[in-house]
Amino acid sequence: MTPLAHSVLRCLSDGAFHSGESLAQTFGCSRGTIWQAIEHLSQHLPLTIYRVRGQGYRLPHPITWLEPSAIRAGLLGDWQLEVAETIDSTNSALLTRASHGAPHRTALFAEWQTAGRGRHGRQWLAQPGAALTFSLLWRFECGVAGLSGLSLVVGLALVRVLQRLEVPVALKWPNDVLLDGEKLAGILIELSGDALGPSAVVIGIGLNLIHPTGVDQAAAGLENYPMPDRNQLAALLLNELDQVLGQFAKHGFAAFRAEWEASHAWQHQAVDIISAYRPPQPGIALGVDNEGALRLQLGDGQEKLIHAGEVSLRRTLAHS
Ligand code: ATP
Ligand code: BTN
Repeated sequence: MTPLAHSVLRCLSDGAFHSGESLAQTFGCSRGTIWQAIEHLSQHLPLTIYRVRGQGYRLPHPITWLEPSAIRAGLLGDWQLEVAETIDSTNSALLTRASHGAPHRTALFAEWQTAGRGRHGRQWLAQPGAALTFSLLWRFECGVAGLSGLSLVVGLALVRVLQRLEVPVALKWPNDVLLDGEKLAGILIELSGDALGPSAVVIGIGLNLIHPTGVDQAAAGLENYPMPDRNQLAALLLNELDQVLGQFAKHGFAAFRAEWEASHAWQHQAVDIISAYRPPQPGIALGVDNEGALRLQLGDGQEKLIHAGEVSLRRTLAHS
C-alpha cells in the first residue's frame, strides 16, 4: 500500500464522508491524486469504499485500528504482543517464529491477512478492520498426545467472553463458534512437537465483527450487538484465553466438558459426520468425552467416538 493510500484509509476510518477536496487539502495534493489513492485501496484491499458525487468517499462502517498499547492496557497477564498491518497468515508467521524460539504467550494480530487459512487448506476471509484475526503461541510441557480437546477449550474461551457481552453464541464441534446457526468465528490449531513433548502450539482465531463478504457458507457478524472497541475486545479475549489455556495445561479437557456441552449448538441433535473418504455418517450428537471427542449415537443405538482429524460435522437437514 502506498503511504498516501494508507493515510487516506486512516482518515476515512471514522466512517464519515470526506470530500476529495478536503482530503486533497489535508494531504497537500490534488484531488486526482486522492482519486488514485482511493483506486489503489480498492484494488489492493478487499475493502468497499463508497463514492458519492457531491459528498466524497466513505467506508461502510467506522474502523478502530488495533494499537498494541491499547490492547496492552486491558491485559492482565504478560504477553509478547504485535500488530501487523498486512501479513500472509498470522498462523504461518507465528509457526515460523516458534521454530526460531519465539516465547510462550506471543500474540500476533493482523489488520489484513493476504492468505488467511482455515482447516484443511481452506481460506479464511476478512476485510481490514472488520474482524479480529490473530494467533497465539503457547508452549506446553506435555507432548501433542496430551492436547486433545484444545480447540474445544479455545472455542469455550471465545464463547465465555461473547456470552458475557450478551451475544447468544454457541459451539460447533470441533472448532467453530456460531451465532444464530451461522459461523461467527473459526479456530485453527497447528502443532509442532512430538508425542512426549514439549510442544509449541499456534492457535489461530478469526472472529467476524462485521458480516464478511465473499464467504461460501452462512457466516455471521456482531454488528447487531453493542461491542467494546476492537482493542478492548482483543484484550478480553487474550485474558480469557490465558486463563483457560493455563487451566487446560494443568487439568486437560475434562474440567471443561460440562461447560462445553452447555454451549454446544447441536447437543442431542441429528448430525452427519462428513469425511473425504467415506459416505456421510448420520447419528445423534450426544456431547463430548473427557478428551473432547464427539460422542455419536448411531442408528443401532451404539455409541461411536469421533476424533477431530479430517472430519467435519453438519447438522442433518430435516426431510420434507
Ligand atoms: P469444519 O466443520 O470442517 O470446521 P468449515 O466449513 O467450517 O468446516 P473450516 O476449514 O473450519 O471449514 O473453515 C474454513 C471455511 O470457513 C471456509 O471454507 C469458508 O467456507 C468459511 N469462512 C471463510 N472465511 C470466513 C469468515 N470470515 N467467517 C465465516 N466463515 C468463513
Ligand atoms: C477454521 O474455521 O477453519 C479456522 C479459521 C481460522 C482463521 C484464523 S484468522 C487468524 C489465523 N491465521 C490464519 O491464517 N488462520 C487463523
